[in-house]
Parts: sequence; structure tokens; C-alpha cells
Amino acid sequence: MLQRISSLKEYQTTYKNSIEQSENFWSEVADNFLWKKKWEKVFSGGFEKADYKWFEGGKLNITENCIDRHLEKFGNKTAILWEPNNPTEQNRKISYNELHEAVCQFSNALEKLGIKKGDTVCIYMPMIPELAIAMLSCARIGSIHSIVFGGFSAQSIADRIQDAECKWMITADGCYRGDKPLYLKKIVDEALEKCPSIQKSIVLNRSNFDCNMKADRDVWWSDIMKDCSTKHEAATMDSEDPLFILYTSGSTGKPKGVLHTTAGYMVYSTYTFLNVFQYQPEQIYWCTADIGWVTGHSYIVYGPLLNGATTLMYEGIPQFPDWGRWWEVIDKYKVNIFYTAPTAIRSLEAQGLKFLEGKSLESLRVLGTVGEPINEEAWEWYHKNIGKEKCPIVDTWWQTETGGILISSLAGVTPVKPSFATLPFLGVEPLIVDANGKEIKEIIAEGNLCIRKSWPGQARTVYKDHERFIQTYFTTYPGMYFTGDGCKRDYDGNYRITGRVDDVINVSGHRIGTAEVENAINEHLDVYESAVVGFPHFIKGQGIFAFVSCEPQPKDIILFKQEVLNIVAKIIGPFAKPDRIEIVSGLPKTRSGKIMRRILRKIAEGEFDKVGDVTTLLNPEVVEEIKKKVKG
Ligand code: PRX
Repeated sequence: MLQRISSLKEYQTTYKNSIEQSENFWSEVADNFLWKKKWEKVFSGGFEKADYKWFEGGKLNITENCIDRHLEKFGNKTAILWEPNNPTEQNRKISYNELHEAVCQFSNALEKLGIKKGDTVCIYMPMIPELAIAMLSCARIGSIHSIVFGGFSAQSIADRIQDAECKWMITADGCYRGDKPLYLKKIVDEALEKCPSIQKSIVLNRSNFDCNMKADRDVWWSDIMKDCSTKHEAATMDSEDPLFILYTSGSTGKPKGVLHTTAGYMVYSTYTFLNVFQYQPEQIYWCTADIGWVTGHSYIVYGPLLNGATTLMYEGIPQFPDWGRWWEVIDKYKVNIFYTAPTAIRSLEAQGLKFLEGKSLESLRVLGTVGEPINEEAWEWYHKNIGKEKCPIVDTWWQTETGGILISSLAGVTPVKPSFATLPFLGVEPLIVDANGKEIKEIIAEGNLCIRKSWPGQARTVYKDHERFIQTYFTTYPGMYFTGDGCKRDYDGNYRITGRVDDVINVSGHRIGTAEVENAINEHLDVYESAVVGFPHFIKGQGIFAFVSCEPQPKDIILFKQEVLNIVAKIIGPFAKPDRIEIVSGLPKTRSGKIMRRILRKIAEGEFDKVGDVTTLLNPEVVEEIKKKVKG
């Protein structure tokens, strides 16, 4: 049985052991899974070449651990509870037996189409059980899923397909988000015009929307499932075989295809789910994220299923039909563990308490947050009004690259402190470094957050670009993994994440590279150059501020700004649209021509007096002009 830490003392002793005897510790955790062949070496490699490996020589299939091994004991237990967007539509309950049949059948269908071990498959689907079935089936046959969040544009899908060299696509006709239809197949059709590598596109009929099925390329999900057996022998995978690619934004260049492998990710997502949420058998668990982001991968699908839990999937948005929907869903399914993002909490808080009237929420035991720093006010609101002051809140800090939670309290077991992620998870050794990369050893510290040694859930590479992987994460501070986050540590050793220290902004928990937005804006013919920075936003945590210099000057400013928004939505997706655009006569630059984003950041934050010395700039006069515009 996997060890569930149940007291602070046990956490402290196990933590010490997990660091000092790391290989023994992880080996004992990994013993609790179904292996086709046991590993030969627990850990090897290091950060210098980023060649670390976990459980080398082991053979397994993650879906046998997610599904098959639960069947004998609790095959009839609900694996996935699905709540549709529209509350009047029938919900669905899928047992572990049913999930097994569906995954086996779809795995057979994928193999019949010719999809092989090691092939990359792009998935662009609504939040419906078939999305989980598609990803698990990919894993079952040994292909690598690359899921693209349903809010991304055709261009972003095409970029990701091309980068990952996907030959296969899985999508749906479309869905409703609230009362708004989302025509996924149409978006995919546009993307696939630029992707000749795609051999077949599998389309699920979710909403009976008209679909233009392209002969020889598009096939219906239901057609390919016909005549396929509901039995399937899972492929034998090596521990270090790739499981999935997930694109994420960084400071520079295009989004990176972060690659996770099989065994380490499995062990880590299982163990963190169990201990952070203190999951107990028979509890109902709900994470409101989208499966298109890492939170959905690790804590809607893999982590919960690996623990044999019942995981709730909700197709819609929090405000449909009204802002009370989430509370209704919690009461309807008697949800015990609820995991969401600070942005959502702030949006719900802004609606006042009227949508909580008549909702009991008494089933709740544990609350969680993820994706961005949570401010104290939102924390208190969540604690008081949702947790009724009796549910511990786990503020979980982690990243696409970490595969699972690295810093968080363990619900009800280790102390909480509002706005602090608190203590490291077992086997995780955080450290804080100053600007020169020197570790700050004093207990009270502030600086950049790094991790000293590898943990099993750590990403292994950037797909097809290992050099970029090393450059991005392991060269800023040699010998350590650099997270890109700033952080503080208090007297008790609690960590508080203060936000990104690189050119990445976190908008409603969505990670957006400023360079990506700038590149999109620069596509407008009137734009000479642009600079994008984040600024504090009451609901979203951070908003996007775009400073744009134009040549020629736009005649109609309102129209111009609308065009810029449209371009960003088209090239990246609507969620990356700037909140504010200012047209300026020039951007502040150093004599060598580098844009001084630091100055723009201060101005966007309203800290006009803190821009510092501008006299050495190439064009100091623009700073005053920009300040005036922004103040105005
Ligand atoms: O800045 C941190 C922030 O989200 C970044 C990672 O984003 P992404 O890879 O999209 O994964 C998000 C979900 C795991 C981090 O570098 N972040 C995530 N969780 C927290 C957080 N910031 C503060 N507190 C958190 N709990």
C-alpha cells in the first residue's frame, strides 16, 4: 500500500528520508504499481546533460495501472463522472469496467488505422469523457499524445502539429461553452490545411454540428469503433518511453513541446495526488481545470485514475447558466475534494454571496488552488465561504515541466499559511538563489526558486530539441533546475511564490510568453514594433499590456486596436488578447537597441516614480510620453 502521510511528524521524518535516501524512498513508492518487468536502476544521470532517468529497465503500461489493476476489486466503481455544459442534458457515469472496455475498443481502432508505438497524436477535444478515453488509448498502444487546449487557434494547432510531426488527429465536431457554440472541427480543418503530415483525423460527434468530412482524411469515431473488440493487450513500454508532449510558453521563441515519460510521471502523479489531497477511497474529487493544460493531465486524468478515484469532469464554464453552477455541481455529486484556480475564485467572489444561497457544500473536505499566486483576500473568501472554515486549503505550486506538485501543504496534515504554497513535497529539495546564482542559506530568504535534484515526474526534454531544454532550465544556474519563478521563504521554511521572473506572464493561470504576443501583434501591417508586459489585474492576477509603435500611424485608433486583438486571437487564441493597448511614438531602448521592458513594466504597474534612471537610454524622451499616455 502506498504510504499516506498522516501527521506533521511523519511528514518531517519521511521528508528527511526522501532526501537522504532518495533512491530507496522512490523505489518503495514504485513498488506499489503493476510492472511487467521490474526496473534495474532507480535513478541515473544528472542536470548537466539533463540525462536523468528513473526506473530504468522497467517495463509497464500506465493504463494498466490506471484501469486494469482496479477491475478485480472495484470494476463497478465510477471512474469518471461527467457533468455536461447544459444542466438539462443527461450526465454520465463511467465505471472502471466501462472505461476499460472503451479504452480497449478505441485502442484497437487506433491500431487498425495504423497508429503505432512512438507515433505522435494531436488531440483537440471538448471536456468530455472521450477526451480521457482518447489520451488513455494513445498511452495504451504506446503512441504519444499531444493535447492542445480547446481555446487555441488554428494557427497554434498547426504549429504544434508541425513541431511534433503528428500524423494523426483526434477531434470532435464541436461543443457549447455556456450558450456559445465552439466549432472545433472547423478550426481543425483550417489548421490541417497547413499540416500535410496528418494522415487521418478522427472526429467524434458531440453536438450534431455540420461537418465537412474530407474524404480519405476524416473518419468518424463511431465508424472506426464498429467491429473493434473491447479487449486489448496493452503495449509493453519502457519506463523512459515518452508518454506525452505538452506545449508551454517560455521567455523566447515558440512554445516548447515539453516531454514526459512513462514510469516516473506515473509514480509521481499518483503519489502527489494521494498525499497532497489526502485522498480517501470513495471520495469524489473534482478539478475544474481543462485537460488541455498540465493540471488536467496530472490531476483530472492520470493522478486520480492511478489512485482508483472517482474524478469529475465538467464540460462548461463557471457562469453558465449562472454563477452558482459550480456550487450546484458540488452539491449534486457530493464532491469531497475541490481543486481550482485563484482567478476562478476571484471571479466567483466578485459575484457576491447570492449564488451561494441554498447551496450546502457540506460534502467538501479539502480545497485546492493552482496555477498562480493566490492573494490573501481570495484565500480568506474561499476558506470562509466555500470551505466553511473547516476545509484545509492546499496551495499547490508546480509547472508543466514538473509533471506534478512540488510545493504544497498536505491537506490537514502540514500547516497552511495564506498565500504560501508552504513546504516541499517528499523528495523535492527547493533552494533560493540570488541574482548571481549563489544559494541563500539563511532561512528567511528572497530570490529565484531552483530545485536541487531530479524527482520522478520531471520533464525529460523539449521534443526534438534537447539543447533548448538544457539551455532553458539548467544553464542559468548550473547544477540546478531553474523554475523561472521568484519566491520568498519565511522563518518556518514556508515558500511563497511571488511570480515569474522571466518574460512569461500568467494570465488567469494561463502561461503566455510576451514574445509570442509581440510576434502576433507585429503581424499587423501598421505595427512597426511592440513590447508586451504584464500588469496586476484584479481578477486575472496579471493582465497583458501592449505598447505599440506604428508606421504609418493608424487613422482609426479604435479600429486598429480591434484589428490587433483579432490578430492575437487568430494567431494564438482569444485568451491571449491584450487587456490594454497603447500606441506610442517609440519604445524605450538601450544604446545597443534593446527594448527596456523593465521600464515598461513599472509604467504598466502604475509605479511611475520607480522607472529608475533613464538618461542613458537611446531615446529617454519617450518615457515621459508613455507615462503620460498610461496615466491618461
Ligand atoms: O509561475 C508559476 C505559476 O504557474 C507557472 C507554471 O505554469 P504552467 O506550466 O502553465 O502550470 C500551471 C499549473 C501547474 C509557475 O511557474 N504557478 C503555478 N502554481 C502556482 C503558481 N504560482 C503561485 N502559486 C502557485 N500555487
